[in-house]
Amino acid sequence: MTTTESWGLPDSQFWLRGERPSGPVQHDATYGVWNVYGYPEALEVLGDPATYSSDTTRIVPDSSEFAEGSLTRMDPPEHQKLRKLVSHAFTPKVVAGLEPRIAALTGELLDAVDGADRLELVADLAYPLPVIVIAELLGVPASDRGLFKQWVDSLFDRDLRGALTNPSAEQRRELDEVLAQVRNLTDYLGEHVDERRAHPREDLLTKLVEAEVDGERLSRKEITNFANVLLVAGHITTTMLLGNTVLCLDAHPEHAARVRADRSALPATIEESLRFLSPFAAMARVTTRDVELGGQHVPADQLLMVWMAAANRDPRQFANPDVFDPTRDPNPHLAFGRGIHFCVGAPLARLEGRVALNMLLDRFPVLATDPADPPRFRPNPNMTGVRKLPLRTS
Ligand code: HEM
Repeated sequence: MTTTESWGLPDSQFWLRGERPSGPVQHDATYGVWNVYGYPEALEVLGDPATYSSDTTRIVPDSSEFAEGSLTRMDPPEHQKLRKLVSHAFTPKVVAGLEPRIAALTGELLDAVDGADRLELVADLAYPLPVIVIAELLGVPASDRGLFKQWVDSLFDRDLRGALTNPSAEQRRELDEVLAQVRNLTDYLGEHVDERRAHPREDLLTKLVEAEVDGERLSRKEITNFANVLLVAGHITTTMLLGNTVLCLDAHPEHAARVRADRSALPATIEESLRFLSPFAAMARVTTRDVELGGQHVPADQLLMVWMAAANRDPRQFANPDVFDPTRDPNPHLAFGRGIHFCVGAPLARLEGRVALNMLLDRFPVLATDPADPPRFRPNPNMTGVRKLPLRTS
């Protein structure tokens, strides 16, 4: 067992060390952003898209070529029209039909490490499983996942705080690199979109190609940006969820023993892991007008970072917030967001989590971190998730 202190958690995420912010909303002059840390304040922001826009291109035009069709960055009414196109593909009922495939894939991935006395959970299971599932749903070859990993890692394994509002020369260069990687991904998806126009198939890409909004087809750019969000949001987060949950169980042997003995406790354990180590730590919003929030006056056109991970440890909402307690009920965490942008893939993430962790616990009676080879977290300050999790199995 390793302890939280030895996990090497991201420095800037003070709530992970049990520290509290001095106020629920704070202005950070260095990075030119307003940090929202409080739970009620986060709800206020996420529940009012007219005041708190998701369209960051209002103030940061650099990345606007990727905003069109990018669901996470759209506001009403366009957002709802586009969301409707895919939401039916991810309902709990439709997603339940994927369970046999998820179980088969998990089985194959675990077969490959059967009998080994060590696992690297991320490479062996937590990365490949969700990326294969979302690639198959979209209809792009899962065998190209090495390419996605290369592009996506170089997007997220950086610390670009302040780069959007006040970039240094070095950050500007890094931002250009990031945009080039996004372009690699959208170019790749664009080729598949062209192929689907010529040869429709039973997949999400074809559905997007054939979909009509207000009587018009989506443009190539809208489809590729939309597919890009689905591909990226559909895997890295679930990878972190799987790794983080195993880590939480390793650090809390009493809960590990309980869930091993009674698997009906697994869904609540996953929810508590999402609260305790929220993979998407923060979401960006921009004020459309002057507003009072958490006792602060925030002018129009300001960038806000809504730290759901910190809100998930707000003692005004959660008793003993720094205690990992899978029996917490209710557990209204914000790890999947809230309001109109609530994660469309939440039922899929929950299912993948339940199936994969169940099978992992079945196969390996012992899963233990090694103090000599501790877990490594992603260096991105907006994320909380392992990128490497070596485990002993005996
Ligand atoms: C543990 C896993 C996951 C976590 C923690 C997570 C987290 C989130 C969060 C916090 C948001 C809200 C963004 C905002 O308010 O700006 C979101 C939105 C979204 N997520 Fe997830 N997600 C996960 C898995 C997935 C999966 C498996 C998919 C697969 C399709 C997915 C697709 C999306 C999409 C398309 C949106 C945008 C929804 C919208 O803007 O209307 N996510 N996710």
